[in-house]
Amino acid sequence: MTDAYAAAYASWHADPEAWWAEAAEGIDWDRRWDRVLDPSRALFGQWFAGARLNVSHNCLDRHVAAGRGGQAALIYDSPMTGRIETFSYARLTDRTAKLAGALARLGVGRGDRVVIYMPMVPEALMAMLACARLGAIHSVVFGGFAAAELSARIADAKPKAIVSASCGLEPGRVVAYKPLLDAAIGLSPHKPDACLILQREALAAAMQPGRDHDLLEAMEAAPPHDPVPVEATDPLYILYTSGTTGRPKGVLRDAGGYAVALHRSMKMIYGMDAGDVFWTASDVGWVVGHSYIVYAPLLKGCTTIMYEGKPVGTPDAGAFWRVLAQHRARVLFTAPTAMRAIKQQDPEGALAKKYDLSAFEALFLAGERCDPPTAIWAAEMLQRPVVDHWWQTETGWPITAGFREFGLFPAKPGTGGRPCPGYDLHALDDAGHVLPRGQTGNLALRLPLPPGCAPTLWHNDEGYRTAYLSDFAGWYRTGDAGVVDADGDVSVMGRTDDIINVAGHRLSTGQMEEVLASHPDVAECAVVGAADELKGQTPLGLVVLKAGVAREPAEIERELVALVRDRIGPVAAFKDARVVPRLPKTRSGKILRATIRALADGKTPTVPPTIEDPAALEEVGRALGR
Ligand code: COA
Ligand code: AMP
Repeated sequence: MTDAYAAAYASWHADPEAWWAEAAEGIDWDRRWDRVLDPSRALFGQWFAGARLNVSHNCLDRHVAAGRGGQAALIYDSPMTGRIETFSYARLTDRTAKLAGALARLGVGRGDRVVIYMPMVPEALMAMLACARLGAIHSVVFGGFAAAELSARIADAKPKAIVSASCGLEPGRVVAYKPLLDAAIGLSPHKPDACLILQREALAAAMQPGRDHDLLEAMEAAPPHDPVPVEATDPLYILYTSGTTGRPKGVLRDAGGYAVALHRSMKMIYGMDAGDVFWTASDVGWVVGHSYIVYAPLLKGCTTIMYEGKPVGTPDAGAFWRVLAQHRARVLFTAPTAMRAIKQQDPEGALAKKYDLSAFEALFLAGERCDPPTAIWAAEMLQRPVVDHWWQTETGWPITAGFREFGLFPAKPGTGGRPCPGYDLHALDDAGHVLPRGQTGNLALRLPLPPGCAPTLWHNDEGYRTAYLSDFAGWYRTGDAGVVDADGDVSVMGRTDDIINVAGHRLSTGQMEEVLASHPDVAECAVVGAADELKGQTPLGLVVLKAGVAREPAEIERELVALVRDRIGPVAAFKDARVVPRLPKTRSGKILRATIRALADGKTPTVPPTIEDPAALEEVGRALGR
């Protein structure tokens, strides 16, 4: 059965342009391409140059035109509000066209940016598709970020309009979004012309006359807007993600290649056909949400589920099984941390047995490495294939996966499948030589990257070159270390930079260090990702105080925790700051972060011979109770 995979991969490898041209037949084009790949464009070539399309048309109108108008396009399931609402393709098209009309009335047109700062409500998805309809570029910001982070994104993207909501709903608290938005706009040198605010029942937002408009009223009053054909190489969205500095990277996605790759992936990877129900339990603020809550399932004509709730506590650890059963979803895609949360509360899987899971076929996991015990637990409990697949914001769709269209590979917990057709993946040594199979190295992709992958960063070609292209000539550096084994299965071991993964959320420890260093009492600091049973990793901050600071360390530690929450947001999950006398360093002054991490994880650290003063390590060990 994996022969089918080998044949597909070989056929792509033999003629990538022919393979992608065939995949592109799944999309409606207003004008076909001049070249499948134009290698002279952008940094490594651009896909479908010369073609024109509209992604919103491809997600909505064409399914209505094909007679699927009555089929469910979106099921909004919100245990937070007790609401379940189904939108047919016809209704979702109408609502999106009206939202596009409302944005157009505010002057938003092709190439303009729109920031979307919203909880998991249908209007978030409609706002994304409304932007796509106009050829405007959306930039969705995850609700768990603080005002300062939102502000940095507003300053960089320079949106003409912002779409937001009065509040988000987290278990036990209402998160007032509007004051955060007002503060973010206040901090940003760039101001939007207008804000469209969804007033939610749980909390009404104060509106700023002249600038703020009620979203639903504006939609009601607006004429529906038709899809505007744009160049396949036009940007569809910017999605900011953590880089190695405090400044987030604006990952750019172009329209045509993304539509082609996502559409193809739905059958190839997830085994989905039009009409099937597909559920991704993530958030529209992350790439997983962009690609597999919004664009891919709708491009394919599936029914997508938007879930405003958690894996546990809304109301219990059976919530995911309830949703799967109630909406008869065939596939669930979520992060391993969600499975760990369920496993902690319902280790025997008793709650899953309460529901009719007969429609459910496979579980897909991504966002962080899935530890083998969790993968094995989920497979045994669900008696379904569990497929770990690896990708990142920059690629927009999986790099490695299992392929339901070709037959899944034998389960091998701890691995993330094999390269998708489109990706020429190898482990490289630090000098850029391809390593033999079985040896761990820098996972890198030979250029050009396939359709769907970011061609550059927003207004920052140089940043893209430096971050991804300059280490290994002719390759894209993924930033992950890993190994391709003798069967071709890929294991991703962890990042080679300072990015950590907390509950599937990508965060930069460098950014947290910048925040800690800004505290007036802090002389120097280090943040590392310590192993965490639930979230995979959680940040741990060690700080050295300036000479002469005589304040209570516990008080400073509390201030540091509050500072990170205030500057980056609750999503950073930064709850552990410790004052230490010194940081362990090499003789050349490099902080021994890997050694600190090993200590934090309760392992015996390998102490490098270049350590300046072993006593500093012992002091950190004592501070961590080791
Ligand atoms: N708006 C505002 N705040 C948010 C938020 C949002 N959209 N999403 C999360 N937060 C807050 C949480 O309330 C929490 O705040 P707290 O410190 O006051 O408790 C904080 O950010 C950290 O959130 P999270 O890391 O999600 O932890 P949690 O303890 O609330 O929940 C899990 C733990 C495992 C249940 C949860 O992380 C989860 O469901 N993970 C699934 C992973 C996922 O969807 N990943 C996306 C990539 S695929
Ligand atoms: P993000 O850009 O937020 O999707 O995060 C991407 C990073 O998450 C990757 O570079 C990996 O470090 C990690 N990641 C995502 N999926 C996996 C996976 N299946 N296995 C291991 N690591 C993963």
